[in-house]
Amino acid sequence: MPTAQSSEPAHDQLASKSQAWSALFSEPMSELVKRYTASVFFDQRLWQADIAGSLAHAEMLAAQGIIGAGDHAAIEKGMATIAREIEAGQFDWKLDLEDVHLNIEARLTQLVGDAGKRLHTGRSRNDQVATDVRLWLRGEIDLIGGLLKELQLALVEVAGQNVEVILPGFTHLQVAQPVSFAHHLLAYVEMFARDEARMQDVRRRVNVLPLGSAALAGTTYPLDRERVARTLGMEGVCQNSLDGVSDRDFAIEFSAAASLVMLHVSRLSEELVLWMSQSFGFIRIADRFTTGSSIMPQKKNPDVPELARGKAGRVVGHLMGLITLMKGQPLAYNKDNQEDKEPLFDTVDTLKDTLRIFVEMIGGQVNPATGAKEGGITVNAQAMRAAAMKGYATATDLADYLVKKGLPFRDAHETVAHAVKAAQAQGVDLSALPLATLQGFHPAIGADVFDVLSLEGSLNARGTLGGTAPAQVRAQIARHHARLGLHPKA
Ligand code: ARG
Repeated sequence: MPTAQSSEPAHDQLASKSQAWSALFSEPMSELVKRYTASVFFDQRLWQADIAGSLAHAEMLAAQGIIGAGDHAAIEKGMATIAREIEAGQFDWKLDLEDVHLNIEARLTQLVGDAGKRLHTGRSRNDQVATDVRLWLRGEIDLIGGLLKELQLALVEVAGQNVEVILPGFTHLQVAQPVSFAHHLLAYVEMFARDEARMQDVRRRVNVLPLGSAALAGTTYPLDRERVARTLGMEGVCQNSLDGVSDRDFAIEFSAAASLVMLHVSRLSEELVLWMSQSFGFIRIADRFTTGSSIMPQKKNPDVPELARGKAGRVVGHLMGLITLMKGQPLAYNKDNQEDKEPLFDTVDTLKDTLRIFVEMIGGQVNPATGAKEGGITVNAQAMRAAAMKGYATATDLADYLVKKGLPFRDAHETVAHAVKAAQAQGVDLSALPLATLQGFHPAIGADVFDVLSLEGSLNARGTLGGTAPAQVRAQIARHHARLGLHPKA
């Protein structure tokens, strides 16, 4: 916990923030202003990136002869101590020192003396913070990419078990045509695959080094920026110092990509909520993802999908916040930029938690005792089938059948509308009408019509690439297996 009062010895120039540049200042900062301007409460999560950036900078300063080898060694030693202290929860974060950067630098100087004071040569907090956020976000993007892959795998696995399960496909939430449940799930796999690719693309622009831009104009020291970039595994250096310190496009791009992930999660959530309502009854999710009602004893509410749907709004809100944060800023760094962190951090946290919970809710968890997966979604194929039978989902198939017998499509469409009307009047499916009745609508109808009126016939007929025919769906599952590096179970 940061403490408001510093009790550091006087030799520590950074004992408090107002002392960091104190010669010019005639009065101390008020407690309120300190709290208002400090970011250490939230930006301390950047500590690993901050230390990594500082070590790469110090290594380069030494290699360029800007600081001595002894200073470099002292900085490395001090930083190792600091990392241990932070990891052990023993680091004394001070509000007085405003942010993660000043806190770490002050502690370094306390530990190793003048070598610590030399670290900031040729650097500013402006290029330092931009570097830290990029390094941190790069790591998070990699974690998110892994989770997106896991979610795709979970969906592909459930799809593999449900190729022959048929549910009504909807347009306007009206029964349209029957589709394979696997096909439906694979639509989400496409979305999450695009999300994964998008994250990779964003990563390329995140992974560029601002350090060396200094405050805004570059620096007078002979820095080797490329060397620092290599040390940090970055793909290049920012080519304009003004842009380097002030660019937050990478954060906005990431938030946009994150918003799309959440939008896809939210659409899936909406389906899960519908599917598990009593009116549908298509699926069940494990009890641990639902909650009861304090008043209605029969209830099992889909809280997790509902919350995910809600959290999508929160992430999209952060995207709007970041865009609005940047739109009025003149070059170069402005303190406004400190406000980029909380939305970005919350976006990352929300995204990771949501993806983790969805992986488990969809695919289940491995039971260590049996080695089998348990607790994923349970499919009620019967209910799906009954729903598909209810809405004349094979009406288009009858029209296509008549077209193949030579009727123009518009005439076939009209003929089938009459047949559906008659079936509705009797309260039966088209396939339950006797052949003679069907032939009354058109003499070209033969006994083979019942093949196309069945749900299976309807599915099998849609064998276009990307269609719902089981053969197509299986081919897609195989493609996803290969793409995701999963070996299908023998
Ligand atoms: N905590 C600050 C931030 O997050 C670090 C940069 C401060 N630079 C400055 N010139 N005040 O943006």
